Amino acid sequence: MRRAIYPGSFDPVTNGHLDIIERGCKLFDEIIIGILVNPEKQPFFSIEERHEILTEVLKDITQGQCKLRVDSFRGLLVNYAVAQQANAIVRGIRAISDYEYELQMALMNRRLEPTLETVFMMPAETYSYVSSRLVKEVFQLGGAIGGLVPPLVEQRMKEKTNKA
Ligand code: PNS
Repeated sequence: MRRAIYPGSFDPVTNGHLDIIERGCKLFDEIIIGILVNPEKQPFFSIEERHEILTEVLKDITQGQCKLRVDSFRGLLVNYAVAQQANAIVRGIRAISDYEYELQMALMNRRLEPTLETVFMMPAETYSYVSSRLVKEVFQLGGAIGGLVPPLVEQRMKEKTNKA
């Protein structure tokens, strides 16, 4: 049983995240999408909203035999991964600029928990510039975000800001 954790803020989930999950499904029997509870950040969507949105949009992806589960966690990722009996952490790398930070995290996580492997995956080129942060910025400034996030995310963002 190969179980991976795909951790992140997912505020909001983008098509790039979904692309990584779909690719991860080819490698793992189960992927737990772990939403980080970060009390220091003021999120756009609450943990509950992100949980609900993720659960809904995951229904539309090709998952084959892979089981997908949405969860949230606090504290150290490695502790959460061990508690979930996961073998690996999945992270998406879009560009070289992501690599430095991701390498640092992967090596720190390895030091903390040598039994866990970090697996880096590349999303489709179409999503190589898509990030939750940019999606929020473009949306808040009135730009179009269609195609970058699932339609449900766009709809929920509009509802939340009364732009629907
Ligand atoms: O989507 P993000 O914000 O890039 O995800 C970052 C995340 C959640 C993977 C990272 O911040 C994390 O693992 N946080 C949990 C706390 C932790 O374990 N910190 C040490 C990392 S080496």
